[in-house]
Amino acid sequence: MRGIFITLEGADGCGKTTQAGPLADALAAGGREVVRLREPGGTPISEKVRALLLDPANAAMAAECELMLYEASRAQLVREVIEPALARGAAVLCDRFYDSTYAYQAGGRGLPDELVRRANALGSCGLAPDRTLVLDLDPELAYARATAGGADRMEAEGLAFQRRVRDAYLRLAAEEPDRVRVIDASGERDEVTARLLAAVADLGTA
Ligand code: TMP
Repeated sequence: MRGIFITLEGADGCGKTTQAGPLADALAAGGREVVRLREPGGTPISEKVRALLLDPANAAMAAECELMLYEASRAQLVREVIEPALARGAAVLCDRFYDSTYAYQAGGRGLPDELVRRANALGSCGLAPDRTLVLDLDPELAYARATAGGADRMEAEGLAFQRRVRDAYLRLAAEEPDRVRVIDASGERDEVTARLLAAVADLGTA
């Protein structure tokens, strides 16, 4: 059985972390091993890189340094965890992957699109998700939710940054409509889970 690689995406506060649990449970009910991961992170090395990336004390971090740290964390996760899991036939559910880098480092930070795409090719070791679910919520609402308990280094960039992130996700969905699906993240938790499941049903997840 071939593995399935699904990624969850969206601006901060869109609710994807809340949805990862029920989505993973539903995938497991289909009889597959499910490996749930988050980026940046998911291996001891990648978690150390995550701490560097999110520490508000690192306000001086250059955009290029930030880009390469996200890619470094990703490459380790792909080689150490994702590739072996897919080879076993698992369903890998990853909270963020290279589309986050496009949305945040190209969209949010304004690094050139082509540069970020090349960096993504390296950081992902050439691996692409089978399906990417972008949870879409009104940016003001999402931002208020994300920062209710304080802001990490990325969230501290503010609402205009989050709007650019959202716009970049919508551009990706328009570019790759088969892989990247925009899911309405408003409404009850169960309703959103049902929308997510419907958007992966054709992948043989049931
Ligand atoms: P999280 O809050 O979903 O755990 O993600 C961590 C933060 O890092 C979030 O603000 C999005 C940001 N991020 C990027 O800017 N680029 C990336 O490539 C990834 C994976 C996350």
